[in-house]
Amino acid sequence: MLVCPEPQEAPWLWPWGTKRDESGQLVLSNGRSLASYAEQYATPIQLFNLDDFASRAQTVSTAMAEEFWPGYGMNGAEVYYAAKAFLSPGLGKALADAELGIDTASLGELTCALHPSMGIEPAKIGLHGNNKSKQALELALEKSIGRIIVDSLPEIKLLDQFAASLGKIAPVMVRVTTGVHAGGHAYIATAHEDQKFGLSLASGDAREALQLIASCPNLKLIGLHSHIGSQIHDLDSFKEAAQRILGLRAWAIEQGWEVPELDLGGGWAISYTGETVPSPAQYARTIADEVRQTCHNLGVSIPKVSIEPGRWLAGPVGLTLYTVGTIKDVRLEDGGLRRYVSVDGGMGENIRPILYDAKYVATLANRTSDAPLVDCRVVGQHCESGDILLPSIGLPADLRAGDLLVVPATGAYGRVMASNYNWIPRPGVLGISTADDKWLVKPETVSDLMHQVLP
Ligand code: LLP
Repeated sequence: MLVCPEPQEAPWLWPWGTKRDESGQLVLSNGRSLASYAEQYATPIQLFNLDDFASRAQTVSTAMAEEFWPGYGMNGAEVYYAAKAFLSPGLGKALADAELGIDTASLGELTCALHPSMGIEPAKIGLHGNNKSKQALELALEKSIGRIIVDSLPEIKLLDQFAASLGKIAPVMVRVTTGVHAGGHAYIATAHEDQKFGLSLASGDAREALQLIASCPNLKLIGLHSHIGSQIHDLDSFKEAAQRILGLRAWAIEQGWEVPELDLGGGWAISYTGETVPSPAQYARTIADEVRQTCHNLGVSIPKVSIEPGRWLAGPVGLTLYTVGTIKDVRLEDGGLRRYVSVDGGMGENIRPILYDAKYVATLANRTSDAPLVDCRVVGQHCESGDILLPSIGLPADLRAGDLLVVPATGAYGRVMASNYNWIPRPGVLGISTADDKWLVKPETVSDLMHQVLP
C-alpha cells in the first residue's frame, strides 16, 4: 500500500510552495487552499502552478547552458519544451523568458506553438512525427520553423518536393533509432528496434537517410536526433545513446557533411510517488561529459546539443483535485475486504494508470485526520471496471463523501491525453500564480459535447 508523502516530507512531489497550513488544509504557493478552488469551481479540476513551471524552465535552461558553455570547450545548448506533455498559450511567456523553444508532434501542436499569443519565434520550433500530415509539413515550411525531424526515407523525398514547390530549403534533423532500450514502460520506450519511430542505426537506414538528404537540393542537414524514451531514471541510457549517435555523426563528418547539432530528446524523470529522481544538473552533466569524451575519442568537433524535456517541466507543477463520492467495502473471494473510494473523475482525465500501470499517490486536501490508514482503491466514475486511478493507497479510515482528494504530479500527459468516454466533460486546467489565476484550458461542459453532435 502506497502512502502519499506530505509536502514537507517530499517537496519535489508537489508544485513548488505547496504546504499544509495549521488548520490542516493543503495550500498552494499563492496562499490559496485547494478547498477554496474546489468551492469556486467544480471538481475535478487540474491546478497548474505557472510560477513553478517558469522556474523549472529557467532551471533546465541554466543547467544545460552551464554544462555546454563554450568556455568549457563545448558548443552551446538549446532546450525545446516537448509540447505533447501539456500545451497552452499560457505557457508561452515562461518558455520565452527562459529562452526555450518548442518541440511539436502534430499539426495541432504546431499551430498552437506558432500562434502569436505563444510568443515563440518560428526558428525555435521543431516538428516531429512518424506520419506527419501534408498540412503540417507545409505549415512548417511556410512559417520557416527551425527544424523538421525526418522519420523515414519516403518522408525525406516528400519534404524535398514540398520545399521545392514552396521555394524553401528545409532544415532537417534525422531521427535515429539507437537501439537503446530505456524508459518507464514499453509503450514509452522509443529507441529499441521493433517500433515505429526513427531510422535504425543498426540496419543502416540512418546512413541511407543521410545519403538521401545529401542528394536533395531543398533539404539542409542540421543535425541528428535521438529520443530513447520517457521517465528515464537511469543516466547510463543517455550515455549509451549519445555514444552511438556520435559514432554515426563521425561517419557523416567523414563523408564531408556538416552535422552541427545533436538532439538527445526528452525523458527526464519526475517523482510520482515521492521517490527521488536525478537532478537537472545530473542529467545535463552526464550528457555533457559523455559528449565531450566521445567526441574526443572520435577526434571530431563537439556539436551544439539540444534536448526536449516535457514531463520534467510540466509534470510536478500540476495536481488534480477530486471530490470523494461513494465509498464501498467490497467482500473479496478470499474473505477479505477492499475499500473502494469513488471520485468524480477517473480514466477520462488520467488514462496513465490503465495505459502504463503508472503509479500515483493521493491524500486528503481539505483536512488532516488521526484515523488509522486503510488500504483503499481509488476508482473513477466511468462505466469500466478497469477505471482504477490508484490500486492501493493508504487513506484515513474516516474518509467520507464530500472530502477532497488530491493527486500530485499530474501536470504532464494528463489533460492532453484525456477523453470524453461516457460523455464526461474533460476538466479544465487552471494556471495559478502569485499574480493571478487563468484558465490554461477551459473546462468542458455537457452542452459543449451536445454541440458536437447536434446538426
Ligand atoms: N521528444 C520526443 C521526440 C518525444 O517523443 C517525447 C515524448 C519527448 C521529447 C518528451 O519526453 P518527456 O521528456 O516528456 O519524457 N504519454 C506518455 C509519454 C509519451 C512520450 C512520448 N514522447 C506518458 O504519459 O508517460
